[in-house]
Amino acid sequence: MTSLLSRALPAASRALVSRRAWTRLSSTAAPRVLPEFSMQDKVCLVTGAARGLGNEFCRAFLRSGCTSLAVVDLKEAEAKDAAQELVAAACLNSDLAPSDFKVIGLECDVSSEMSVQKAFAETMDAFGRVDAVVASAGIVENYSAFDYPFDRIKRLYDINVHGAFFTAREAARNMIPQGGGSIVLVASMSANIINIPQPQTPYNASKAAVKHMAASLAVEWAKKGVRVNALSPGYMLTKLTRTILSHDQELKKTWESLTPMGRMGEPEDLAGAIVFLASDASRFMTGSEIRVDGGYCVI
Ligand SMILES: NC(=O)c1ccc[n+]([C@@H]2O[C@H](COP(=O)([O-])OP(=O)(O)OC[C@H]3O[C@@H](n4cnc5c(N)ncnc54)[C@H](O)[C@@H]3O)[C@@H](O)[C@H]2O)c1
Repeated sequence: MTSLLSRALPAASRALVSRRAWTRLSSTAAPRVLPEFSMQDKVCLVTGAARGLGNEFCRAFLRSGCTSLAVVDLKEAEAKDAAQELVAAACLNSDLAPSDFKVIGLECDVSSEMSVQKAFAETMDAFGRVDAVVASAGIVENYSAFDYPFDRIKRLYDINVHGAFFTAREAARNMIPQGGGSIVLVASMSANIINIPQPQTPYNASKAAVKHMAASLAVEWAKKGVRVNALSPGYMLTKLTRTILSHDQELKKTWESLTPMGRMGEPEDLAGAIVFLASDASRFMTGSEIRVDGGYCVI
């Protein structure tokens, strides 16, 4: 700072600028950030939000100024508990009170179109609009192709593929009349590469479908103000991966060794990407994919 100042300004101005800079640095005011990243005044809905990445996306939205949020998951009690916990966490170390937030927990099985429609109807009743929707509900299972029972394959596609489609379609139905919105479909690095050593062909294919679905819907709705993008995480530490790892401790080391950054991701590592995609910061971006995978896909 000093060397830059000494080159550009006379001594008197330098003293004034440094005093101001110091006052700014030492003040407790919030850091200055690009306003387009703010989620203030945006109504958000996240599926699969009782835990894992969906829950982290909710946290990121609340930390970025959102106060109106629908937490959607399979079981009503878990969705409502998560909604309460999210508000409590948002109030910690802040001057906000629970009454500053309206966060509702909603039961919904995304594999049922009726159930998704009901969750959106309840959200519209509560908030009157919906601006940012994240389809995060998803499952993974590891069977070799010959061993995978068909009813389980069908269930996986019903949740991962049809669930994302129902969520996006219902989001757009509500967003178009209000002038637009942002939809994020959670795909995976598995949309781009084949995970090893665990076999998971239907999962990989389901995530490739979700990634291409985001691009296809983006084109359908581009002129109507609705943006659709895909967020593709690498290996993240959540219940989904912990369940797989609980059967095989060595697997974590294998996954880490295959990741250039040498570690698995924490859910918080996705906070910046989800806020970017959901907010106006990405307003000219649609049909794209953001990979957040510690470099996994590039080698
Ligand atoms: N964890 C990872 O490493 C990873 C990597 C890439 C992509 N993903 C994707 O991210 C998304 C979230 O994964 P996660 O790690 O948070 O999983 P998770 O198992 O920790 O959480 C998933 C949440 O979705 C909910 N859910 C499951 N089926 C549902 C249904 N039919 N209707 C509504 N909710 C349902 C669960 O109750 C749970 O709360 C998934 O789509 C997953 O494929 C995860």
